[in-house]
Amino acid sequence: MASPTRLLIVAIDGGAASGKSSTARALAARFNFMQVETGFHYRAITAEMLRLGVRSDDPSHSQRALHELSLETRVEGQAAWLEINGRRPGDEIRSPEVNAAVSHFAALPAVRARLLTYQRSQVDVALAHGFRGLVMEGRDIGSVIFPDAPLRFFLHADPTERARRRAQEGQTDSITERDRLDSSRKTAPLTIPEGAIAIDSTYLTLNEVVNHVAKQVEQHLRQSSAS
Ligand code: CDP
Ligand code: CDP
Repeated sequence: MASPTRLLIVAIDGGAASGKSSTARALAARFNFMQVETGFHYRAITAEMLRLGVRSDDPSHSQRALHELSLETRVEGQAAWLEINGRRPGDEIRSPEVNAAVSHFAALPAVRARLLTYQRSQVDVALAHGFRGLVMEGRDIGSVIFPDAPLRFFLHADPTERARRRAQEGQTDSITERDRLDSSRKTAPLTIPEGAIAIDSTYLTLNEVVNHVAKQVEQHLRQSSAS
């Protein structure tokens, strides 16, 4: 991994529909940071495994299939997208089948190890594209992927409000069940990293959350340009 010193890394974690990707997208646009949605990575791998007929309760088959996949990155605007075997996964990653299977594949250590390497490599991608910051969101960014990131946020929201947000998007998704699986797995569980800034967005608009996070980023940028 290249030294991240020239790049400000912002980690955003939280449960399903807590507002991570919307916040990351808005932040990336405001500061010209590169934005990475790691949920997309887990969903993309899951869709590929389902397409290949691999089951999450067959870890050795998963491991073999994983080995065959080449993972690359395409940057479009501020967003960095994962491509698997030269193709960017499409809408299938939001299907009810993927929603139901993703937390099971995400609990496999081999899947997490492969994505850890890939996700850390996004620092090089961001530097190569001339970005001054990288905002990455997921479940283990501030705890495992970039535990030394200077800015780490954890978004909360009441489960009822999160279910309402997902339903409004027209999705069939059992977010409470995914949260339960994601929080209880052995490898890189969903947890509030020590020292992370927690934000409860239940009664906040997206704009209010973004302004709160952006203030911290501005403060950090001011401090680092002064030192
Ligand atoms: O958008 P939503 O919050 O519903 O989920 P997502 O961010 O697209 O992530 C889908 C699933 O991927 C999660 O429920 C986790 O099982 C897994 N995931 C993970 O384990 N670690 C991450 N850093 C990101 C996602
Ligand atoms: O990435 P994650 O699954 O955590 O959430 P998201 O996809 O960013 O947000 C889920 C939905 O909730 C989106 O339609 C957002 O516009 C909405 N949202 C909201 O209504 N209020 C917030 N404070 C944050 C997100």
